[in-house]
This record gives sequence, structure tokens and C-alpha cells, in this order.
Amino acid sequence: MKCFRYYKDKCKTKRGSNSAPELQNQRKQKNLVLDRVTKSSDSFPSPRSIPELYREKEHNLRVFTFQELRDATNGFNRLLKIGEGGFGSVYKGTIRPPDGQVVAIKKLNRDGSQGHKEWLAEVQFLGVVNHPNLVKLLGYCCVDGERGMQRLLVYEFMPNMSLEDHLFNRALPILPWKTRLQIMLGVAQGLAYLHGGLEVQVIYRDFKSSNVLLDNNFQPKLSDFGLAREGPTGDRTHVSTAPVGTYGYAAPEYVELGRLTIHSDIWGFGVVLYEILTGRRALERNRPTGEQKLLVWVKQYPTDSKRFSMIIDPRLGKQYSVGAAREIAKLADSCLDKNPKDRPAISQVVQSLKQAIEYSEEPSTSKNMTSKSSQSKLIRKVK
Ligand SMILES: Nc1ncnc2c1ncn2[C@@H]1O[C@H](COP(=O)(O)OP(=O)(O)OP(=O)(O)O)[C@@H](O)[C@H]1O
Ligand SMILES: [Mg+2]
Repeated sequence: MKCFRYYKDKCKTKRGSNSAPELQNQRKQKNLVLDRVTKSSDSFPSPRSIPELYREKEHNLRVFTFQELRDATNGFNRLLKIGEGGFGSVYKGTIRPPDGQVVAIKKLNRDGSQGHKEWLAEVQFLGVVNHPNLVKLLGYCCVDGERGMQRLLVYEFMPNMSLEDHLFNRALPILPWKTRLQIMLGVAQGLAYLHGGLEVQVIYRDFKSSNVLLDNNFQPKLSDFGLAREGPTGDRTHVSTAPVGTYGYAAPEYVELGRLTIHSDIWGFGVVLYEILTGRRALERNRPTGEQKLLVWVKQYPTDSKRFSMIIDPRLGKQYSVGAAREIAKLADSCLDKNPKDRPAISQVVQSLKQAIEYSEEPSTSKNMTSKSSQSKLIRKVK
């Protein structure tokens, strides 16, 4: 699914830079001085910004030449193309020996400064973060030549496509119920790290099933950090920015008012929870009008109603308990609360998913999830 990408980002990245990561070294001193001046009014030490943290870790990333990446992909051969998104094309590549590593290479379509900005954000955020549920960036290539600019990103290769592929591509085997829950738990843990496990809070901003990549054991990793932003600091409650994201997944307060917070990520998480429950995409233009928007459609089948089971992915057959599915729907509904502050923190979501997986592991107890006591136990954790 393509992004709605209208870039009128009013809130300029104060400490960010429009230059390539390697060029930033030259500005290091100047920026550090500027940072200290900006922060001198603070009475307590402020957390360091992503660009500052990046400067400490940039040596971990390898700088590739364009030729190296051209060789790795046989000249960006279309037979090696594995995907295409709003940023550009993605290729499977093999770095020449002695390295020999299989990688995924994302090549920016040449489209000026916005592409560069996203590329730079991805290099800086992924250069700083480190978590088993976040895709690993190995390096990048940045060339400004006579024939225009080249911006590429080199990632660890994720061999098992995306959650979107496994949920919606009918040519692939059905994704089992428990695997769906485990994938959601994994990415929730990745989001929890972004929201609270770093010196600076990170808003991911583009949570959707196509950005959840899988390894051969269906362990998930979040990819695509081009839209990530640092969370609000000091007294600010949100980051103000013109909406950038993907239709069907973005939170209403973000779309309507440009208010971005970590709660916006929780909304996107709620949408994907409904995708795993129903096997339907957030937005499906080829369905009858009332069914095109997933969230509008599922509202007609409230979690406490008898009709609820009618929305569950028919491909799941009998491998789930309706009680457990109901709990997941309730969790999704809490993530989709209109009031951002009433949505659960991602740490609460992690707890609820762990519990749901526990129940799903024991067939006898999974049935018990319909019992009042187990239901309230799960919800208490969520609210
Ligand atoms: N590290 C990777 N390993 C393996 N495949 C990848 C990797 N990164 C991306 N891909 C593949 O490339 C596809 C396109 O990814 P990309 O992030 O460019 O676009 P998208 O997520 O579909 O759309 P958008 O640009 O709107 O986020 C992915 O769905 C996945 O199949
Ligand atoms: Mg993507």
C-alpha cells in the first residue's frame, strides 16, 4: 500500500542536518556548540538528540560505494527486485567476497530533498537503535555526482517477506493464529523499545503490516524509519507536523490536527490487530462501500455481540477460540480509542499479548478466555 506523502513538515528538525551522514563530521564541532547553547537554559541535562547519538555510533555503519552496490545487484537487475515502496525499489543483493553477505538494498528514486530527508532519518535512527525486533541497517551509500544524487540503504536481508504478504497473499499458506499473535508481540516489543527504551523517545510513525518483516522462524522486525521522529521534549505534549504516513493506519488526531505522539503509533497497532483478526487490509477499494474501510466495517460487529465471529478471517478455520479473538478485538478497540491518552501504553499491549499467547497455547484454558474472570484479567491490564 502506498503512502500519502505530502511533505509540508512545518516543524523543522532543529538539530537534524540535511547533509549526508559522512558530511556531518565536518559540522560536528559547530553543531555541538549550537546544541549546548540551545540547551543552556535547561536546568537539568536534556536527553541527547538522535543526530547526537548517531555521531557516537556512526562508525558501526559501513559506507558502500555505488559500484559495490551495483555489483551486489548485478546492475540493479530487475530479477533481483524484491519490492517497491514510496521511497524506491528494494533489491536482494550479495556483497562481493570476502564479505559475501546477502543483503537488502533500498535505492531511492531520485526525487530531490524530501527523499534525502527520509534517507537521512533512516540512517540516523537505524544507526542508533539496536533491538532484535528492529531491522538492522548495515550501511549506506550517498553520492552526489554529475548525474544526480544516489541514496541507498543496505539492510540485513529478511528472507520471509512481510506480515502484509503472509496475511493477504492468497498464494502463501495461511498464517496460523498463534504465529499472528507472536508476530504482534514481537513488534510490540520493538515499539516498546522505541517508546521507552532509549535516551530519546522515538515515534515510529508508519506502523503497518508491510513494514513488519519476517525471518524464516517468523520472528518479526520493524523496518522503514524514514518517517520516524523524536518525541516531544520538555513541556510539549506532542510534535506538530503535517501528516505523513499511510491511509488507513494513521491516527485521527494526527491526520486532522497534525498532532503526533507515541499514542499515534498505538492507533496503527490497533489497525494491524484488526488486520490479523480479519485477514482484511486496512483499506480495500475493491470491496462494497461499507466494507472498504476496515475500522468502519468491524464496528458493525461489536466484540460483545453474537455477530462478532463473522469478522474473523475465514482462512483460520477452527484454530482459534472465539473468546481469545474477542480479547484481541477488545485490545484493538482500546488502541483505537479516539482520545489518544486513553489508549494503552505499548508496555500494556505487550503484557496483554503475552497473556493471549499463553491462553492460545493451552487449548483447555483458551476456551476459558470466554469466562468472565479471565476476560477481566486481560482487560484490567490493558486499561
Ligand atoms: N531488509 C529487507 N529484507 C528483505 N526484504 C525487504 C527488506 N526491506 C524491504 N524489503 C521488501 O521490500 C518491500 C518494499 O519495502 P518498502 O519499505 O520500500 O515499501 P512498503 O513498506 O511496501 O511501502 P512504503 O514505502 O509505503 O512503506 C517490502 O514489503 C519487503 O518485501
Ligand atoms: Mg515499508
